[in-house]
Amino acid sequence: MDTTPLQVDIDLQTNDRDELFVTMKLLNRSGEDLRNWSLQFDLPKSIAAGAHTSLLSHIGSHVTLAPDQPIALPAGANRSLQFTGHPAIIQRISDLPSGIYVDTGDRYLTAELRSHNLTQGEGHDTQPDSGSTPAGYSQASTDRVVASANDFSTSTESSVAVIPRPMQSTPRAGMFHYEGPISYCTEPLAADAIAWLAELFPGTLAQDPKSYEDAQLRFLPTSTLHPGAYEIDVRTSHIDIRASDRAGFFYAIATLVQQLSVEPGVATQTPCIELRDQPRFAYRGLMLDCARHFHRKEVIFKLLDLMALYKLNYFHWHLTDDEGWRIEIDAFPELTRIGAWRGAEEVLEPQFGSGPDRYGGYYSKSDIRAVVAYAKARQITVIPEIDIPGHSRAALKSLPDLLVEEDDQSSYCSAQLYTDNVLNPALPGTYEFLHKVLDEVCELFPGRYIHLGADEVPPGVWELSPACQALMAAEGYHTVWDLQGHLLRNLQSHLADKGRVLVGWEEAAHGDKLDHSAIICAWSGIASAAETAALGHRVIACPAPFAYLDMAWDNSIEEPGFHWAGTANLETCYAYEPENLERGADFAKQLLGVQSLLWSELIVSPERLDYMLFPRVLAIAEVAWSPRGSKNWEDFQCRVSLQHTLLDHSRLRTHSSP
Ligand code: ACM
Repeated sequence: MDTTPLQVDIDLQTNDRDELFVTMKLLNRSGEDLRNWSLQFDLPKSIAAGAHTSLLSHIGSHVTLAPDQPIALPAGANRSLQFTGHPAIIQRISDLPSGIYVDTGDRYLTAELRSHNLTQGEGHDTQPDSGSTPAGYSQASTDRVVASANDFSTSTESSVAVIPRPMQSTPRAGMFHYEGPISYCTEPLAADAIAWLAELFPGTLAQDPKSYEDAQLRFLPTSTLHPGAYEIDVRTSHIDIRASDRAGFFYAIATLVQQLSVEPGVATQTPCIELRDQPRFAYRGLMLDCARHFHRKEVIFKLLDLMALYKLNYFHWHLTDDEGWRIEIDAFPELTRIGAWRGAEEVLEPQFGSGPDRYGGYYSKSDIRAVVAYAKARQITVIPEIDIPGHSRAALKSLPDLLVEEDDQSSYCSAQLYTDNVLNPALPGTYEFLHKVLDEVCELFPGRYIHLGADEVPPGVWELSPACQALMAAEGYHTVWDLQGHLLRNLQSHLADKGRVLVGWEEAAHGDKLDHSAIICAWSGIASAAETAALGHRVIACPAPFAYLDMAWDNSIEEPGFHWAGTANLETCYAYEPENLERGADFAKQLLGVQSLLWSELIVSPERLDYMLFPRVLAIAEVAWSPRGSKNWEDFQCRVSLQHTLLDHSRLRTHSSP
């Protein structure tokens, strides 16, 4: 018995004029004749109708095709629909239509993609081209990395099996053995570090703290060390840890944890070593998009655990976008009642393969408080992002009476193919909405930084809005782009009144409209961090070609991911050098740090999330932490392979929720 009522076979053909023809052949195995049917699926690229087909709508990624003449789809019969586009739109399996179903007018029948004829295209490698693939995912490549790790342990004895690579380490002879619970002395600044160790390895620490002299694990506050810096001295009899702050003590434990030998759940020994370490950049971030696909809070907790292990200290939480609003706001329950859900019967259409059924979710205020506290205990600050004024379709569809100007005749199409996703900077409702949302956001997130997006506002927006025209006349603005500055300045000062700093994508700096206290995430390319710094802003470097971990690993058609910024394997990510000295000392001062990012259009499961992040995020973590000039690709590969046990969580507690 077939599980899905329909089956689809996809045929791709390219002609000599570089046009792609995609034929979707539907087999009706539902047992019923279908009459007025349409075919719906997701494909986030521009397409046109092909032979005998009408393109009824294309909203974001969601496509509706129908026969151009009414034609039945009898039980057991086939019918084909076709669309066309540029060959670049489908280059790998993850580019194929997803979330395919048929709408019969009264029911939604899901379709299984049975076959396609996508083959490795010209210029594509047939094999993964790198020294390794994401952690633990391809046995062949894992074996290759582990083999080189064995070489490493005999040939490079002085290196230390820690990521990010510490500044300085000198091995000593011998081992410190954990024989029964180890005694420790208390130190208020080490409280988070002690709690984390006890959580990771229950039973490893003795119940009651001892005096300094009697303890085996000793925390020594040392005011001369920089923020986040630490020193570890592991002897056979005891371990001394020095730091000047909570983060320093915590990072020392992260380093020790990576060096522990353990039996299931129990630490057994760690090599004697003298080690000094400090972060290169104060900002070492990871962004996760939770709007395109919703990631349960348990996924976030696990991610925070791994961030802590690799000394990443900012979690940039992309909470809103066109495809979903994920944060509970008391003033506007519609945002999560409507804007958190997609589906054929929902206000928001299915997107990115989510299919006809109700799909989505959001973080309640108590979820968010739990995430913020969990992160804080791991020395991680959470930066919420409310992406405005573009990327706002979920909010606009939830609150049309407040946010939409009926007489606005402006016509635009966003990079993600929406024609209705931008807030209007001339409506009082926009300000009421954003002020109330930001007040609640500031109440939930104690960190200084609040990210307001500001990316990818499409040309054509606001031009035929009577409200925008009136505001431009009143303010003497010459172009509609002044309106973006008008809105962002208002919000910047609203946040400043609460002691908060606006962070935005690089478009927020365009036109030099904001106070230079705004921090900019430079994303579009390698040069954009220095260019944005030259405008006077402090910057976080997140260049798409190195740091966008939604990009595919390589050109193999099986590798999932986007490819508009190219592909990035582990070596590419590791090669990234954020500080270009030719840009001068000012740039170095303005560069707060580095961030990797995972946009979630294709992140359909926690497994896919792990696959895209690891181990590439380790490369960016090392770029952000380890001293400039200390890179060694061979050595890094070896150290990555030694992380596999930690990454598969056999040593880390897997928890449901705190
Ligand atoms: C972005 O990728 N639009 C920041």
